Amino acid sequence: MDKIVIQGGVPLHGSVRIGGAKNAALPILIATLVAPGEHRLDNVPELVDVSSMLSLLGRIGCPSLVHGDAVRLDTSRVSFCEAPYDLVRKMRASVLALGPLLARCGEAHVSLPGGCAIGVRPIDQHLKGLEALGCEFELSGGYVHAKVNKLVGNRVVLDFPTVTGTENILMAAVLARGESVIENAAREPEIVDLASFLRSLGARIEGDGTSTLRVQGVTSLAPPEETYSIVPDRIEAGTYLVAGAITGGDVTCVGVRPRDLEPVLEKLREAGCQLELGTDRVRLIAPKQLKPVDITTLPHPGFPTDMQAQLMALLSLAGGRSVFTETIFENRFMHVPELMRLGADVQVDGNRAVVTGVASLKGATVMATDLRASASLVLAGLAATEGPTEVLRLYHLDRGYERLVEKLTGLGAQVQRLPDDLRGRMLSELAATA
Ligand code: UD1
Repeated sequence: MDKIVIQGGVPLHGSVRIGGAKNAALPILIATLVAPGEHRLDNVPELVDVSSMLSLLGRIGCPSLVHGDAVRLDTSRVSFCEAPYDLVRKMRASVLALGPLLARCGEAHVSLPGGCAIGVRPIDQHLKGLEALGCEFELSGGYVHAKVNKLVGNRVVLDFPTVTGTENILMAAVLARGESVIENAAREPEIVDLASFLRSLGARIEGDGTSTLRVQGVTSLAPPEETYSIVPDRIEAGTYLVAGAITGGDVTCVGVRPRDLEPVLEKLREAGCQLELGTDRVRLIAPKQLKPVDITTLPHPGFPTDMQAQLMALLSLAGGRSVFTETIFENRFMHVPELMRLGADVQVDGNRAVVTGVASLKGATVMATDLRASASLVLAGLAATEGPTEVLRLYHLDRGYERLVEKLTGLGAQVQRLPDDLRGRMLSELAATA
């Protein structure tokens, strides 16, 4: 397996082009099922999760052609209404097949995602919403077996504004008879993008971006003539801005929507970073000394949990104490022990982490158990001044950051992707403990 090797301490400078949002591309790809025919999408990020979603669609009977960030997908026929375990295991977002398959075929068999590195992550709210639209479920053999005669619009009040839960219910509601209202719906920009895509197929949706989604069901949907372009990835952009901030650099993210980044930009400003916003770009100029900032993760428009680990890497170098409160996932401080190996000073107590800034970080070998945690380790490695940092288990990064090494190198980082010499590492670890 590959690893990333970073010689840190180099201030990053220049521009980086941000790709399409993973968390918008995944629901939009599977949403093509509700409109049989040929779909054209662009600004689709080149990520392992996107390939997994296309494999799932292939398994369902919908072939695709990928050319760079352009995807053509034929959903004319569906031969298999199942998201099998081997695919769901690799990518939890496969659970998004539930709503579209029910809308398209009246049945769906989706493997339960089970626990994952950042918590239990149940799907009870997805099922509650789909049940309100008339679906019936049976849980057996690790699968949700779902069926419905006719989807009928209804009012759904979510206990929590779950992102993929809102998406699953929305993708079914567009083909239900009558009106559906989803209350306490998620408001993330990726929900707005999914709603725009569904509207381009003929769906009637209002209220996206607010807590109340109103859907007037239609009898059929069809792919538009035009190519649909996926919204830019606010988390990828936020990560590169932090890369500029943590290295004392000057980085511009191009091809972004600054308003989607606002909750993150606000915290970067508080940390002392200078920001310049254009229509499709954000420039960050790092301060000489970062200031501590308190961060509480919340559903959008609050601070995104997907940027918590990256900000923790950043604020581990601030001049003072920052308090992080994670309210979305119960187990999302897995990066803390690894950041501490690089010299960060972090105390965790339940869902709070207190970060006391240190003067510098030092290179080390680290590995992470989830995507954003891995990103935080790369960021810390870019700032580490003594010795190289090796980041292992790159499959997490490949799920969510396209051409990471190439983009960082373009900003002047000294970073390489190498095959991991597992045997050599084991021998040197043995020698060190002997
Ligand atoms: C999505 C994002 C993920 C992001 C997260 C929170 C995608 C593909 N993934 O994940 O990157 O970190 O939003 O912004 O878009 N919950 C329940 N019951 C449910 C559903 C959720 O209890 O039926 C809980 C979860 O356990 C978690 C919280 O709600 O504690 C938020 O989860 P949710 O918004 O559903 O996250 P995902 O949609 O899985």
